[in-house]
Amino acid sequence: MRSYIKADEWSIIEEGFDAHLNKISESIFSIGNGRMGQRGNFEETYTGDTLSGNYIAGIYYPDKTRVGWWKNGYPEYFAKVLNATNWIGIEIKVEDEILDLAKAEVSGFKRILNMREGYLERNFIAKLKSGKMLQVKSVRFCSIVSDETAAVHYSIKPINFEGKLTLMPFINGDVKNEDSNYDEKFWEPVYDEVNGAEAYLKVRTKKTNFEVCTGSQIEIYKNGKRLDLNAETVRKEKFIGQVFSVNVKVNEEIALIKIVANLSSENYPKQALLGHTKSAIAKASAKGFDALLKAQAEAWIAKWDDSDIVIKGDVAAQQAIRFNIFQLFQTYTGKDDRLNIGPKGFTGEKYRGSTYWDTEAYCVPFYLATAPQEVSRNLLIYRYKQLGKAIENAEKLGFKNGAALYPMVTMNGEECHNEWEITFEEIHRNGAIAFAIFNYIRYTGDVGYLIDYGLEVLIGIARFWKQRVNWSVDKQQYVMLGVTGPNEYENNVNNNWYTNTLATWCMKYATEVAEIVEAQQPKKYNNVMKSLSFDPQEFKDWADIIEHMYYPIDTEKGIFLQQDGYLDKEQILVKDLPLSERPINQKWSWDRILRSCFIKQADVLQGIYFFEENYDLETIRKNFDFYEPRTVHESSLSPCVHSILAAKLNDKARAYELYLRTARLDLDNYNNDTQDGLHITSMAGTWMSVVEGFAGMRIRNDQLYFNPFLPDKWESFSFTIGFRVATLKITVERTSIQILNKSEAGLSINIKSQSYELAGSAMLKVACVL
Ligand code: BGC
Repeated sequence: MRSYIKADEWSIIEEGFDAHLNKISESIFSIGNGRMGQRGNFEETYTGDTLSGNYIAGIYYPDKTRVGWWKNGYPEYFAKVLNATNWIGIEIKVEDEILDLAKAEVSGFKRILNMREGYLERNFIAKLKSGKMLQVKSVRFCSIVSDETAAVHYSIKPINFEGKLTLMPFINGDVKNEDSNYDEKFWEPVYDEVNGAEAYLKVRTKKTNFEVCTGSQIEIYKNGKRLDLNAETVRKEKFIGQVFSVNVKVNEEIALIKIVANLSSENYPKQALLGHTKSAIAKASAKGFDALLKAQAEAWIAKWDDSDIVIKGDVAAQQAIRFNIFQLFQTYTGKDDRLNIGPKGFTGEKYRGSTYWDTEAYCVPFYLATAPQEVSRNLLIYRYKQLGKAIENAEKLGFKNGAALYPMVTMNGEECHNEWEITFEEIHRNGAIAFAIFNYIRYTGDVGYLIDYGLEVLIGIARFWKQRVNWSVDKQQYVMLGVTGPNEYENNVNNNWYTNTLATWCMKYATEVAEIVEAQQPKKYNNVMKSLSFDPQEFKDWADIIEHMYYPIDTEKGIFLQQDGYLDKEQILVKDLPLSERPINQKWSWDRILRSCFIKQADVLQGIYFFEENYDLETIRKNFDFYEPRTVHESSLSPCVHSILAAKLNDKARAYELYLRTARLDLDNYNNDTQDGLHITSMAGTWMSVVEGFAGMRIRNDQLYFNPFLPDKWESFSFTIGFRVATLKITVERTSIQILNKSEAGLSINIKSQSYELAGSAMLKVACVL
């Protein structure tokens, strides 16, 4: 689909209202702050097609699954992030007519997501059936300064009438999920209260018993002067509204400010939740809307200082990369190690807000470079805290001795996905969790993490792999049977090259880390190993597997084989597939997909991407040239890895073309699914395509390496990263690469295989034609 979003460097702009696009826009215009997120739904009534979504981090419902749960070992539920209490709602009535954009004639409609300052604005003129016209402007944001606070400023100007305007701001907990297996509502009422301008509603989730308390404080202004109005209260189950009536004349402006707080029992004892919500409302109201918005803008501007990517010469690319960075920071702030990043973040119900391997494989590199170290550390700690559950999960599947199998999909450490091929077989996720630890240590040098947390996780993971392989008498090697690799268009395959490679790598890395910890903290090491009942024979068993593992290869073609028998499949290239048959996941039966050679996303190439330094360029090229043409990229996670490898192979055109598929995936609704929510985790992949792909950034031997190229269409690009004690701004131009060291400490940097010393607060400029 062609984009209807206007190109702009700092804003996402939609002009004109098209009800058919509304759900797409609701996703694109989502706002959030890591603690809550709100789709771009309207404040006023809307009876057209909409997906209402307000999500509170960590609050979920274990919806009993409809299929498959009778198979032994299956989890009983599929957790769902919940559409929570609607806090933005304001019903507007002109005399007795409700303002509803599905029924009114709309003109001058404009939505602007101001990414630089972190707020959403909407303007429109509505002509009601009666002919009365009013001009509306709304501004809202979820504060990143105080992440339980949000605010709405909603103003109305009558254009051609005078009379009674009724505004009913409300809090509505009587909401449902579109995705509910038994059509039930997940919330039950607990408490409500209206106290002058303030209103409070507390609701509780069924089964999980989470409580969320939403509070609001209303101010009403006429032409900038505060009105002291009494409200009539409307009370229904899980609903409170405050009705304010004002008489207005043409061109008089009525503004309603709604200061909101959303607090959950995840952070406060239930009996204290109401009190804390009241304090949050009092604090935010005392500051007032303008001050809150100003603080929001300042905080976002500061965030951009440390994380922006500036692209010159291509506004659409500039807008896209900022949109991706913006959405990632709206989703995860790293303040709370119980939270994680759902593939759709807070922008829709799909993937149910759960944590996937996406976090470790795709998001960790982004947060490592653009946020303080504790942000990515908290992502690692999240898994550390769930180690016990991962061990239980493995036990359920018959593994022993502290083997840990992390879930493919989780909210609280328990597996909550139940398609057998994913739950039981997509075990490569375990390796991604180990790889993220490696990546984190490589980037930060924080060896202390290994001592306090990492070693235990790595041992649990290595123990799992040890038990998951078996000795093949036939091959006289270890094999791994019945797995699903990242390419979910193959199930129950034997010897997926990626999974086998990852498994032995995990055992190697766990051994190495054990040696490091033993050398640095022998006492702690002994304690940990004792607590894990670790038998040194385990190292020997791992070494034996590492030495005798089987990896499928095709020597003639010089490629690693995705799995045993892959070449038996009819070999067709994606370019020869009629367009009318794509995407195959919508056009073909599942069985036909499974029998085909088509690859959903990087699989062998995911392994080559992770362990690039183990392979020479020729090997990378042969595998890329073989697998990419068979890849349909029907996972949003796919193009970025391919783009990075194409850049590594110096295939600039291909790298750029693949980058384009990821960069504006949601803004241009490439996959025709933006209405379900944004592809948050693949947005980190887009960032990787620029930084690891175009700039060729790598960390090797505790140092930064760059091997950049500049896409033909761009004049230059620059990005800011934090690396250890340094903050660096890297600018890639047609004839040079420049690195500005914004910190005091000096460091060594490698550019195009040349080593340079960059002093503190200095700039390094290397001439080269890019
Ligand atoms: C991909 C998985 C991914 C999941 C969530 C699926 O389509 O195949 O690799 O973890 O989406 O993003």
